[in-house]
Amino acid sequence: MEQQLNELQSQALEKIAAAADLKELNDIRVAYLGKKGPVTEVLKGMGKLSAEERPKMGALVNVVRETIANAIEEKQTVLEAAAIEQQLALETVDVTLPGSPVKIGAQHPLTRITEEIEDLFIGMGYTVAEGPEVEQDYYNFEALNLPKGHPARDMQDTFYITPELLMRTHTSPVQVRTMQKHGGRGPVKIICPGKVYRRDSDDATHSHQFTQIEGLVVGENIRMSDLKGTLDVFAKKMFGADREIRLRPSFFPFTEPSVEVDVSCMCGGKGCSICKGTGWIEVLGAGMVHPNVLEMAGFDSTKYTGFAFGMGQERIAMLKYGIDDIRHFYTNDLRFLKQFSVHE
Ligand code: DAH
Repeated sequence: MEQQLNELQSQALEKIAAAADLKELNDIRVAYLGKKGPVTEVLKGMGKLSAEERPKMGALVNVVRETIANAIEEKQTVLEAAAIEQQLALETVDVTLPGSPVKIGAQHPLTRITEEIEDLFIGMGYTVAEGPEVEQDYYNFEALNLPKGHPARDMQDTFYITPELLMRTHTSPVQVRTMQKHGGRGPVKIICPGKVYRRDSDDATHSHQFTQIEGLVVGENIRMSDLKGTLDVFAKKMFGADREIRLRPSFFPFTEPSVEVDVSCMCGGKGCSICKGTGWIEVLGAGMVHPNVLEMAGFDSTKYTGFAFGMGQERIAMLKYGIDDIRHFYTNDLRFLKQFSVHE
Protein backbone atom coordinates (compact mmCIF):
# COMPACT_ATOMS: atom_id res chain seq x y z
CA MET A 1 0.00 0.00 0.00
CA GLU A 2 2.82 2.31 0.85
CA GLN A 3 4.37 1.70 -2.54
CA GLN A 4 1.01 2.33 -4.19
CA LEU A 5 0.80 5.68 -2.43
CA ASN A 6 4.33 6.67 -3.34
CA GLU A 7 3.69 5.83 -6.99
CA LEU A 8 0.51 7.83 -6.91
CA GLN A 9 2.35 10.78 -5.47
CA SER A 10 5.17 10.78 -7.99
CA GLN A 11 2.70 10.29 -10.85
CA ALA A 12 0.65 13.25 -9.64
CA LEU A 13 3.72 15.45 -9.17
CA GLU A 14 4.88 14.68 -12.68
CA LYS A 15 1.53 15.64 -14.12
CA ILE A 16 1.41 18.80 -12.05
CA ALA A 17 4.83 19.81 -13.28
CA ALA A 18 3.72 19.23 -16.86
CA ALA A 19 0.38 21.11 -16.56
CA ALA A 20 0.32 23.83 -19.16
CA ASP A 21 -2.60 25.91 -17.92
CA LEU A 22 -4.98 26.45 -15.05
CA LYS A 23 -7.66 24.26 -16.50
CA GLU A 24 -5.37 21.29 -16.84
CA LEU A 25 -4.19 21.84 -13.28
CA ASN A 26 -7.72 21.85 -11.99
CA ASP A 27 -8.42 18.59 -13.82
CA ILE A 28 -5.45 17.07 -12.04
CA ARG A 29 -6.75 18.32 -8.69
CA VAL A 30 -10.13 16.71 -9.29
CA ALA A 31 -8.57 13.49 -10.57
CA TYR A 32 -6.20 12.96 -7.61
CA LEU A 33 -7.82 14.65 -4.66
CA GLY A 34 -11.48 14.41 -5.60
CA LYS A 35 -13.97 12.07 -3.91
CA LYS A 36 -13.62 9.51 -6.65
CA GLY A 37 -9.85 9.90 -6.94
CA PRO A 38 -7.19 7.24 -6.23
CA VAL A 39 -6.25 8.67 -2.81
CA THR A 40 -9.80 8.17 -1.60
CA GLU A 41 -9.70 4.67 -3.04
CA VAL A 42 -6.58 3.88 -0.98
CA LEU A 43 -8.30 5.22 2.11
CA LYS A 44 -11.18 2.85 1.53
CA GLY A 45 -8.74 -0.09 1.70
CA MET A 46 -7.60 0.96 5.18
CA GLY A 47 -10.22 -1.24 6.80
CA LYS A 48 -8.27 -4.29 5.87
CA LEU A 49 -5.14 -3.15 7.67
CA SER A 50 -4.02 -4.22 11.12
CA ALA A 51 -4.43 -1.87 14.07
CA GLU A 52 -0.73 -0.89 14.15
CA GLU A 53 -0.51 -0.26 10.42
CA ARG A 54 -3.66 1.82 10.23
CA PRO A 55 -2.39 5.06 11.90
CA LYS A 56 0.88 4.78 9.98
CA MET A 57 -0.95 4.51 6.68
CA GLY A 58 -3.39 7.21 7.71
CA ALA A 59 -0.49 9.56 8.31
CA LEU A 60 1.13 8.63 5.01
CA VAL A 61 -2.10 9.26 3.10
CA ASN A 62 -2.26 12.67 4.69
CA VAL A 63 1.30 13.43 3.73
CA VAL A 64 0.70 12.32 0.12
CA ARG A 65 -2.44 14.41 -0.02
CA GLU A 66 -0.73 17.45 1.37
CA THR A 67 2.25 17.06 -0.94
CA ILE A 68 -0.01 16.89 -3.98
CA ALA A 69 -2.13 19.81 -2.75
CA ASN A 70 0.93 21.94 -2.07
CA ALA A 71 2.40 21.15 -5.48
CA ILE A 72 -0.87 22.12 -7.09
CA GLU A 73 -1.00 25.37 -5.17
CA GLU A 74 2.55 26.28 -6.11
CA LYS A 75 1.96 25.46 -9.73
CA GLN A 76 -1.23 27.47 -9.62
CA THR A 77 0.66 30.57 -8.47
CA VAL A 78 3.14 30.10 -11.30
CA LEU A 79 0.45 29.60 -13.93
CA GLU A 80 -1.58 32.56 -12.73
CA ALA A 81 1.44 34.82 -12.94
CA ALA A 82 2.15 33.53 -16.43
CA ALA A 83 -1.44 34.22 -17.49
CA ILE A 84 -1.15 37.81 -16.24
CA GLU A 85 2.18 38.22 -18.05
CA GLN A 86 0.60 36.96 -21.24
CA GLN A 87 -2.35 39.30 -20.89
CA LEU A 88 -0.05 42.25 -20.33
CA ALA A 89 2.02 41.31 -23.34
CA LEU A 90 -1.13 41.21 -25.44
CA GLU A 91 -2.25 44.59 -24.21
CA THR A 92 1.03 46.33 -24.84
CA VAL A 93 0.47 49.61 -26.65
CA ASP A 94 3.02 50.73 -29.16
CA VAL A 95 3.10 54.44 -28.43
CA THR A 96 5.23 55.07 -31.49
CA LEU A 97 2.46 54.00 -33.88
CA PRO A 98 0.79 56.91 -35.70
CA GLY A 99 -2.68 57.72 -34.30
CA SER A 100 -5.88 57.19 -36.28
CA PRO A 101 -7.13 60.49 -37.67
CA VAL A 102 -10.33 61.88 -36.17
CA LYS A 103 -12.65 62.75 -39.02
CA ILE A 104 -14.44 66.02 -38.53
CA GLY A 105 -17.60 66.59 -40.54
CA ALA A 106 -18.33 69.67 -42.59
CA GLN A 107 -21.27 71.94 -42.08
CA HIS A 108 -23.82 71.62 -44.87
CA PRO A 109 -23.47 74.64 -47.19
CA LEU A 110 -27.13 75.59 -46.63
CA THR A 111 -26.68 75.54 -42.85
CA ARG A 112 -23.56 77.62 -43.27
CA ILE A 113 -25.29 80.22 -45.45
CA THR A 114 -28.32 80.31 -43.13
CA GLU A 115 -26.12 80.87 -40.08
CA GLU A 116 -24.06 83.49 -41.85
CA ILE A 117 -27.20 85.43 -42.81
CA GLU A 118 -28.64 85.01 -39.31
CA ASP A 119 -25.43 86.34 -37.72
CA LEU A 120 -25.39 89.26 -40.09
CA PHE A 121 -28.96 90.33 -39.28
CA ILE A 122 -28.72 89.56 -35.56
CA GLY A 123 -25.78 91.99 -35.62
CA MET A 124 -28.19 94.64 -36.95
CA GLY A 125 -30.66 94.04 -34.12
CA TYR A 126 -32.98 91.48 -35.71
CA THR A 127 -34.30 88.41 -33.88
CA VAL A 128 -34.90 85.00 -35.43
CA ALA A 129 -38.53 83.85 -35.73
CA GLU A 130 -39.85 80.49 -36.90
CA GLY A 131 -43.16 79.11 -38.07
CA PRO A 132 -44.75 75.80 -39.06
CA GLU A 133 -43.98 74.05 -42.35
CA VAL A 134 -47.52 72.67 -42.49
CA GLU A 135 -49.34 75.96 -42.72
CA GLN A 136 -52.87 77.27 -42.97
CA ASP A 137 -54.01 78.68 -46.30
CA TYR A 138 -54.85 81.83 -44.34
CA TYR A 139 -51.27 82.58 -43.28
CA ASN A 140 -49.58 81.36 -46.47
CA PHE A 141 -51.88 83.30 -48.81
CA GLU A 142 -54.94 85.14 -47.54
CA ALA A 143 -53.28 87.28 -44.86
CA LEU A 144 -50.59 88.12 -47.41
CA ASN A 145 -53.15 89.81 -49.63
CA LEU A 146 -53.66 86.71 -51.77
CA PRO A 147 -57.38 85.86 -51.38
CA LYS A 148 -58.75 82.59 -52.73
CA GLY A 149 -58.85 82.70 -56.52
CA HIS A 150 -56.17 85.39 -56.77
CA PRO A 151 -54.21 84.74 -59.97
CA ALA A 152 -50.86 85.40 -58.24
CA ARG A 153 -51.39 82.18 -56.26
CA ASP A 154 -50.33 80.43 -59.44
CA MET A 155 -46.84 81.89 -59.02
CA GLN A 156 -46.35 79.31 -56.27
CA ASP A 157 -47.63 75.87 -57.16
CA THR A 158 -48.78 74.40 -53.88
CA PHE A 159 -48.90 71.02 -52.12
CA TYR A 160 -52.32 71.04 -50.45
CA ILE A 161 -53.07 68.68 -47.57
CA THR A 162 -56.70 69.76 -47.17
CA PRO A 163 -58.40 72.78 -48.81
CA GLU A 164 -57.32 74.86 -45.78
CA LEU A 165 -53.98 73.23 -44.98
CA LEU A 166 -50.83 73.17 -47.10
CA MET A 167 -47.04 72.85 -47.12
CA ARG A 168 -45.94 76.47 -46.91
CA THR A 169 -44.67 77.76 -50.25
CA HIS A 170 -42.56 80.52 -48.71
CA THR A 171 -41.44 81.82 -45.31
CA SER A 172 -43.66 84.92 -45.66
CA PRO A 173 -46.44 83.47 -43.42
CA VAL A 174 -44.04 83.88 -40.47
CA GLN A 175 -44.30 87.65 -41.05
CA VAL A 176 -48.02 87.50 -40.37
CA ARG A 177 -47.73 85.18 -37.36
CA THR A 178 -45.10 87.44 -35.80
CA MET A 179 -47.02 90.67 -36.45
CA GLN A 180 -50.12 89.11 -34.86
CA LYS A 181 -48.13 88.30 -31.73
CA HIS A 182 -47.07 91.94 -31.48
CA GLY A 183 -50.70 93.00 -31.07
CA GLY A 184 -50.47 96.03 -33.37
CA ARG A 185 -47.43 97.52 -31.64
CA GLY A 186 -44.08 98.06 -33.32
CA PRO A 187 -41.25 97.84 -33.84
CA VAL A 188 -40.95 94.40 -35.40
CA LYS A 189 -37.54 93.34 -36.68
CA ILE A 190 -37.18 89.69 -37.58
CA ILE A 191 -35.67 87.21 -39.96
CA CYS A 192 -37.31 83.82 -40.49
CA PRO A 193 -35.27 80.95 -41.92
CA GLY A 194 -36.92 77.68 -42.90
CA LYS A 195 -37.90 75.00 -45.38
CA VAL A 196 -40.49 75.67 -48.05
CA TYR A 197 -42.25 73.43 -50.57
CA ARG A 198 -43.50 73.79 -54.12
CA ARG A 199 -45.00 71.48 -56.71
CA ASP A 200 -42.07 71.85 -59.08
CA SER A 201 -40.31 69.15 -61.07
CA ASP A 202 -36.75 68.84 -59.83
CA ASP A 203 -34.05 69.98 -62.24
CA ALA A 204 -30.80 71.95 -62.09
CA THR A 205 -32.55 75.10 -60.84
CA HIS A 206 -35.79 73.79 -59.26
CA SER A 207 -36.51 71.68 -56.22
CA HIS A 208 -39.82 70.66 -54.64
CA GLN A 209 -38.28 71.56 -51.28
CA PHE A 210 -35.81 74.34 -50.62
CA THR A 211 -34.91 76.91 -47.99
CA GLN A 212 -35.70 80.58 -47.60
CA ILE A 213 -34.99 83.45 -45.29
CA GLU A 214 -37.57 86.13 -44.82
CA GLY A 215 -36.92 89.53 -43.35
CA LEU A 216 -39.47 91.95 -41.89
CA VAL A 217 -39.15 95.35 -40.30
CA VAL A 218 -42.24 97.27 -39.16
CA GLY A 219 -42.10 100.57 -37.35
CA GLU A 220 -42.84 104.24 -37.61
CA ASN A 221 -41.17 106.02 -40.53
CA ILE A 222 -39.71 102.92 -42.12
CA ARG A 223 -38.88 103.87 -45.69
CA MET A 224 -37.74 102.30 -48.93
CA SER A 225 -34.29 103.80 -48.36
CA ASP A 226 -34.04 101.72 -45.14
CA LEU A 227 -34.69 98.62 -47.22
CA LYS A 228 -32.10 99.60 -49.77
CA GLY A 229 -29.44 100.40 -47.16
CA THR A 230 -30.09 97.11 -45.34
CA LEU A 231 -29.81 95.06 -48.51
CA ASP A 232 -26.66 96.90 -49.53
CA VAL A 233 -25.02 95.89 -46.22
CA PHE A 234 -26.24 92.33 -46.76
CA ALA A 235 -24.85 92.10 -50.31
CA LYS A 236 -21.46 93.50 -49.36
CA LYS A 237 -21.08 91.20 -46.34
CA MET A 238 -22.27 88.16 -48.27
CA PHE A 239 -20.52 88.60 -51.59
CA GLY A 240 -17.74 91.14 -51.04
CA ALA A 241 -17.25 94.84 -50.26
CA ASP A 242 -16.95 95.73 -53.94
CA ARG A 243 -20.46 94.53 -54.80
CA GLU A 244 -23.34 96.85 -55.60
CA ILE A 245 -27.09 96.29 -55.56
CA ARG A 246 -29.81 97.55 -57.85
CA LEU A 247 -33.58 97.48 -57.38
CA ARG A 248 -35.92 96.69 -60.29
CA PRO A 249 -39.67 97.25 -60.12
CA SER A 250 -41.58 94.00 -59.71
CA PHE A 251 -44.80 92.63 -58.28
CA PHE A 252 -45.63 90.74 -55.12
CA PRO A 253 -49.16 90.87 -53.69
CA PHE A 254 -47.86 91.43 -50.15
CA THR A 255 -45.66 94.43 -50.92
CA GLU A 256 -46.32 97.79 -52.58
CA PRO A 257 -44.13 98.90 -54.21
CA SER A 258 -42.33 95.63 -54.91
CA VAL A 259 -38.82 95.18 -56.20
CA GLU A 260 -36.48 92.52 -57.38
CA VAL A 261 -32.94 92.97 -56.11
CA ASP A 262 -29.85 92.29 -58.19
CA VAL A 263 -26.25 92.11 -57.03
CA SER A 264 -23.44 93.18 -59.34
CA CYS A 265 -21.66 90.19 -60.80
CA MET A 266 -18.19 89.15 -59.73
CA CYS A 267 -17.06 89.71 -63.32
CA GLY A 268 -17.23 93.39 -62.43
CA GLY A 269 -19.82 94.19 -65.09
CA LYS A 270 -17.79 92.90 -68.03
CA GLY A 271 -20.39 90.20 -68.59
CA CYS A 272 -19.85 86.49 -68.02
CA SER A 273 -21.75 83.19 -68.15
CA ILE A 274 -23.04 83.59 -64.58
CA CYS A 275 -24.69 86.97 -65.21
CA LYS A 276 -25.41 85.98 -68.81
CA GLY A 277 -23.57 89.04 -70.03
CA THR A 278 -25.69 91.54 -68.06
CA GLY A 279 -23.31 92.25 -65.18
CA TRP A 280 -26.17 91.72 -62.65
CA ILE A 281 -27.52 88.68 -60.81
CA GLU A 282 -30.99 88.51 -59.27
CA VAL A 283 -30.83 87.46 -55.61
CA LEU A 284 -34.09 88.27 -53.85
CA GLY A 285 -37.55 89.80 -53.80
CA ALA A 286 -38.52 92.67 -51.52
CA GLY A 287 -40.77 95.66 -51.05
CA MET A 288 -42.73 97.88 -48.68
CA VAL A 289 -45.27 95.85 -46.70
CA HIS A 290 -48.71 96.28 -48.29
CA PRO A 291 -51.12 98.27 -46.09
CA ASN A 292 -53.64 95.41 -46.38
CA VAL A 293 -51.09 93.00 -44.89
CA LEU A 294 -50.38 95.37 -42.00
CA GLU A 295 -54.08 95.88 -41.31
CA MET A 296 -54.94 92.17 -41.48
CA ALA A 297 -52.18 91.49 -38.95
CA GLY A 298 -53.58 94.15 -36.61
CA PHE A 299 -51.30 97.11 -37.39
CA ASP A 300 -52.56 100.62 -38.09
CA SER A 301 -51.25 101.28 -41.59
CA THR A 302 -51.60 105.06 -41.18
CA LYS A 303 -49.11 104.93 -38.33
CA TYR A 304 -46.87 102.04 -39.27
CA THR A 305 -44.93 101.17 -42.39
CA GLY A 306 -42.49 98.38 -43.04
CA PHE A 307 -40.28 96.60 -45.48
CA ALA A 308 -39.88 92.91 -46.20
CA PHE A 309 -37.63 90.71 -48.26
CA GLY A 310 -37.32 87.03 -49.06
CA MET A 311 -34.51 84.98 -50.52
CA GLY A 312 -33.52 81.38 -51.16
CA GLN A 313 -30.37 80.11 -49.46
CA GLU A 314 -29.75 77.70 -52.35
CA ARG A 315 -29.53 80.57 -54.78
CA ILE A 316 -27.23 82.57 -52.50
CA ALA A 317 -24.98 79.51 -51.96
CA MET A 318 -24.91 78.71 -55.68
CA LEU A 319 -23.79 82.25 -56.49
CA LYS A 320 -21.32 82.48 -53.64
CA TYR A 321 -19.65 79.11 -54.19
CA GLY A 322 -20.19 78.68 -57.93
CA ILE A 323 -22.50 75.65 -57.63
CA ASP A 324 -24.20 74.85 -60.92
CA ASP A 325 -26.92 72.37 -59.90
CA ILE A 326 -29.37 72.77 -57.00
CA ARG A 327 -29.62 68.98 -56.64
CA HIS A 328 -26.09 68.87 -55.21
CA PHE A 329 -27.53 70.23 -51.95
CA TYR A 330 -29.81 67.25 -51.44
CA THR A 331 -27.97 64.20 -52.79
CA ASN A 332 -25.37 64.11 -49.97
CA ASP A 333 -22.40 63.28 -52.15
CA LEU A 334 -19.46 63.47 -49.72
CA ARG A 335 -17.18 64.84 -52.44
CA PHE A 336 -19.49 67.85 -52.65
CA LEU A 337 -20.05 68.27 -48.92
CA LYS A 338 -16.38 67.92 -47.92
CA GLN A 339 -15.52 71.04 -49.88
CA PHE A 340 -17.32 73.06 -47.23
CA SER A 341 -15.28 71.70 -44.35
CA VAL A 342 -13.35 74.38 -42.55
CA HIS A 343 -10.90 71.77 -41.23
CA GLU A 344 -9.25 70.59 -44.43
N1 DAH B 1 -42.26 85.15 -50.72
C1 DAH B 1 -41.62 85.49 -51.97
C2 DAH B 1 -41.32 84.20 -52.74
O1 DAH B 1 -41.19 83.17 -52.16
C3 DAH B 1 -40.34 86.19 -51.75
C4 DAH B 1 -40.57 87.56 -51.19
C5 DAH B 1 -40.73 88.64 -52.05
C6 DAH B 1 -40.67 87.76 -49.83
C7 DAH B 1 -40.96 89.88 -51.56
C8 DAH B 1 -40.90 89.02 -49.33
C9 DAH B 1 -41.05 90.09 -50.21
O2 DAH B 1 -40.99 89.26 -48.03
O3 DAH B 1 -41.28 91.34 -49.72
O4 DAH B 1 -41.22 84.26 -53.93
